Amino acid sequence: MTGARVPFVDITAEIAWLREDIDAAIARVLDQGRLIGGPEVERFEAELAACAGASHAIGVSSGSDALLSALWALGVGRGDEVVTTPFSFFATAGAIWRLGARPVFVDIDPASLTLDPNRAAAAVGGRTRALLPVHIFGHPAPIPSAGDTPVIEDAAQSLGAAPLRGRAAALSFFPTKNLGALGDAGAVVTSDPSVAERVTLLRAHGAQPKYHHQIVGGNFRLDALHAAVLRAKLPHLERFTAARRARARRYRELFEAAPVPPELRLPAHDERHVYNQFVVRAPLRDPLARHLAAAGIATEVYYPVPLHLQPCFAELGYREGSLPEAEAACREALALPIHPAITGEMQARVVDEIARFYL
Ligand SMILES: Cc1ncc(COP(=O)(O)O)c(C=O)c1O
Repeated sequence: MTGARVPFVDITAEIAWLREDIDAAIARVLDQGRLIGGPEVERFEAELAACAGASHAIGVSSGSDALLSALWALGVGRGDEVVTTPFSFFATAGAIWRLGARPVFVDIDPASLTLDPNRAAAAVGGRTRALLPVHIFGHPAPIPSAGDTPVIEDAAQSLGAAPLRGRAAALSFFPTKNLGALGDAGAVVTSDPSVAERVTLLRAHGAQPKYHHQIVGGNFRLDALHAAVLRAKLPHLERFTAARRARARRYRELFEAAPVPPELRLPAHDERHVYNQFVVRAPLRDPLARHLAAAGIATEVYYPVPLHLQPCFAELGYREGSLPEAEAACREALALPIHPAITGEMQARVVDEIARFYL
């Protein structure tokens, strides 16, 4: 190995930059003694709603639970269908399945890797209860339109990319997200008061008032400690997003000047993109990833298996070849390190090593 290691993410650097604010947030919660609910959660929800361009934000325990409770709040259940993308993290489809509904996968646009809105609209039928596009890697997906079928946006990777456009959006604050908590956390944002009310009920076992259960829900609450830390980080999100966009521009400049094959494709440009990930389409992806690992450069494969070919969905009857664009993306996509702490030198090393591999 020649040159310094290039880590895939650097959470300790991000925490170190904001350490005083994070320590103060934790101390506030310890002094208040309100660990579940309380002022930190309420204030975070108000601040997040403003940031997400929605009138309500409801803090929940993870992005997975945000998807689950948003779909549940719309009444998605047994026998229903939800049209979605096969190219996402498992939680997107898992939430649909956990409610007894059936995911209907339609293929992606090969440039943006997001759900193709025309194919999605064409797949809407009598049982369709919702459409679920994913702003994959931080690239805002077009919002499909199919009569009054509600759209839930999976915005787990895209906070700050575009204001809420669907009926609700699910956000994740998993530590590697652009706004990361110190553990699992998420939120539903919506401008529909009835969805907000329903998600608020669902996250606390449907209790209203306490110990009087109007509906069956779960325990999907956001902890006060996470809310306080997220409040400390939220004012810095714009700055960190600008840093991610600057790193993406740098990669584009470096690749333009590098002797890489034309088949190596960079992410589609969209000025709203927030680059939770910078994902290239690479010929010989797996040998390339091994070459980079041997050179001390960490990469990730998002996602090696499309959702329609996951073993747990075998009974849905999809086969290899059913959704060729998503399958090709799963063979070729490689996420390169991108985060606010990556230096120009590190990025140059990544691109140099990629060029060396193809020589
Ligand atoms: C597209 C997408 N949807 C949903 C989730 C689930 O979020 P969480 O990990 O917070 O449950 C993730 C997280 O990785 C994601 O990337």
